[in-house]
Amino acid sequence: MPAVVVVGAQWGDEGKGKATDQLGSRVDYVVKFNGGNNAGHTVVVGDEKYALHLLPSGILSPGCTPVIGNGVVVDLEVLFQEIDGLESRGVDTSKLLVSASAHIIPPYNRTLDKVTERFLGKRQIGTTGRGIGPTYADKMNRVGIRVQDLFDASILRQKVEGALAQKNQLLVKVFNRRAVDVDAITEELLSYAERVRPMVADSSLVLNTALDEGRTVVFEAGQATMLDVDHGTYPFVTSSSAIAAGACTGSGIGPTRIDRVVGVLKAYTTRVGEGPFPTELHDDMGEFLRSTGGEYGTTTGRPRRTGWYDAVVARYATRVNGLTDLVMTKLDVLTGLEKIPVCVAYDVDGVRHDEMPADQSSFHHARPIYEELDGWAEDITGARTFEDLPAAAQRYVLTLEEMSGTRISSIGVGPDRDETIVRQDLLD
Ligand code: GDP
Ligand code: IMO
Ligand code: MG
Repeated sequence: MPAVVVVGAQWGDEGKGKATDQLGSRVDYVVKFNGGNNAGHTVVVGDEKYALHLLPSGILSPGCTPVIGNGVVVDLEVLFQEIDGLESRGVDTSKLLVSASAHIIPPYNRTLDKVTERFLGKRQIGTTGRGIGPTYADKMNRVGIRVQDLFDASILRQKVEGALAQKNQLLVKVFNRRAVDVDAITEELLSYAERVRPMVADSSLVLNTALDEGRTVVFEAGQATMLDVDHGTYPFVTSSSAIAAGACTGSGIGPTRIDRVVGVLKAYTTRVGEGPFPTELHDDMGEFLRSTGGEYGTTTGRPRRTGWYDAVVARYATRVNGLTDLVMTKLDVLTGLEKIPVCVAYDVDGVRHDEMPADQSSFHHARPIYEELDGWAEDITGARTFEDLPAAAQRYVLTLEEMSGTRISSIGVGPDRDETIVRQDLLD
């Protein structure tokens, strides 16, 4: 019975939520191990559409225990809004576990995220404004507040006071904002304590025990490889470890426990926020991908930047995650195109790069070298086996598989749970 890590292999929004949801009833635990409510996973089940932010996608599968790991940053207000929203639609959230060591996003970090962005001006990152960066910075600076602090009012107050001793200076003197009151923040955080208490668990112990007992555990990443704080397009990244290794630090399991690492990617590319994106399209084709693919953010509603498939990014994701499988989503969006360009390498100031350039300036200058593949005109949303796909669509998949260096085990042909071609069972 495997431990499977599911990660984004591009710049996010690849369809990780759908990929995890699909494993559904066969999975005992789904663990979110990084990020917070900057994530947005849309899962479509029949006529119902769910937008999940902080909760792991496993919450939609009865029988599955969803876990918020220690590597996650938790906005308590959002947590309970999301729980209430799902409960009102008949989804049972009572199994949810939250790590005692997960960090809390205090309200002042949402403010700091937004004002910092404003101050960056042209150099802004285009964050989701959810307080993610400042909260991970607090964690590393050792002035963060953790879920377990909610259960000792005096410790909590001391920690809020310690954090605000620095933050208020910043807010008032640098950003020209009003100082935040220690007692008000402490009270606000304490107001969630009793509701969160029954969910709190030693998630590392729970998950290791589950794996010892042969249960199936899926570790679901937020964000993606190219947004990872170490391996992404820094500084245009998020502030957490979004690659497969993050599943270990973010949940308290060792690397030897992982059996499978699944990278999710689209049959083309999208990105939200600022930063380099070599295959980005600024023309009608870009608009075609955006409108046909419904490429608007689940979290912020921002239009996503769109471009062709980038095999250099896919090879890089294979390398830094140690991918064993790819899930390719949204092949249906490309239907109707006569020719489909695919980026096979970059030209950086006249030099060909088959691998990701190691320095950021080169990546900013990278110009895609394209190969054109044949498109197909037939509607593929009804395809359920690889052989159901038109020959050109089959060739597209097989060529990308070869270029990317990992087998494509599953192919998405529509947003619904069922609109998928499984070539290789991810839990086998
Ligand atoms: P995540 O953040 O990686 O979970 O991805 P998002 O949910 O933000 O974005 C993926 C979007 O694509 C969602 O709206 C999904 O419903 C949709 N989607 C996923 N797979 C497919 C697919 O194979 N075809 C189509 N047309 N849509 C898909
Ligand atoms: P899912 O899990 C796409 C982007 C933001 C911004 C950068 C930093 O749905 O794939 P942050 O608020 O994290 O400090 O913003 O990262 N970003 C995402 N882009 N999908 C996401 O999540 C993202 N989460 C953050 O747009 O460029
Ligand atoms: Mg998303």
